[in-house]
Amino acid sequence: MKSLLEGAVQENYAVGAFNVANMEMILGAVRAAEETNSPIILQIAQVRLPYSPLDIIGPMMIAAAKKATVPIAVHFDHGKDSSVIMQALKLGFTSVMIDASHLPIEENIEIVHKVKAMADEYGASIEAEVGQIGGSEGGTEDNGMFYSNPLEVKRLYDSTKVDAIALSIGNAHGLYKMEPKLKFDLLTETTRLVEVPLVLHGGTGICDEDFKHSIALGIRKINIATANFLAVEEEARKYCSGEKRDYFKLSSEMEAGMYQNVVKHIRVFGSSGKAGSRATDEKLEMACHNA
Ligand code: 13P
Repeated sequence: MKSLLEGAVQENYAVGAFNVANMEMILGAVRAAEETNSPIILQIAQVRLPYSPLDIIGPMMIAAAKKATVPIAVHFDHGKDSSVIMQALKLGFTSVMIDASHLPIEENIEIVHKVKAMADEYGASIEAEVGQIGGSEGGTEDNGMFYSNPLEVKRLYDSTKVDAIALSIGNAHGLYKMEPKLKFDLLTETTRLVEVPLVLHGGTGICDEDFKHSIALGIRKINIATANFLAVEEEARKYCSGEKRDYFKLSSEMEAGMYQNVVKHIRVFGSSGKAGSRATDEKLEMACHNA
């Protein structure tokens, strides 16, 4: 993930981090990345594991990323327990998030240090969170939203040197009850103080203009979950409301729903065409092999 975000910093775009829950979603996201020649991040949040067990979906995500012709990072989103984060690292996830944002900053920093030491052992990148993003990934809890304090972001970064920091600037997980109003001044102040790739969670429901403005001000990773689930469910619903019954057609429609949603976001995030040389090298290798 670190190297994907470095590319985004250099060329001023954001890498889409798309939450997945099954094989169709993985395949749709990878196809979208390959067709737009874009790097992406495939991720799953700890709270989703009762539906998609880590030891089953993790290897599937990793296999899809390895096989892809574009660079794809595999990220463990909103890690809460170090034992589960360790499981993700052992499986081969390329980055993990430790979400200790509900704790006072000193405790948050302490936990980040511990998880970073674990991630370092596996050569994996790490994302932390400062301030508290509204809602929760699984929609099961809402401890309220607390805006990130730029000085605390700096403190955490200076102490831990993590690879990415998630901010709370008016963004929230799930569907927004009211139109989100992002605090761009907070983002500007943070990028003035700290040179670390910043992450915008709660991408579903944020308008294209706000995405672009956030990217211009230093957001380098944008998380999209609810919009993926809705897009896949919508295609399944449409197919099932018809006369024909074919499980495999249903599966293709679900894959297509994810594909379309990922392509749409890649275009807004400015990452299309940024997959760099891996795609070109592999195409060349394939061409040589075929020849
Ligand atoms: P949304 O569900 O609002 O897109 O948020 C995704 C997210 O931030 C995952 O960590």
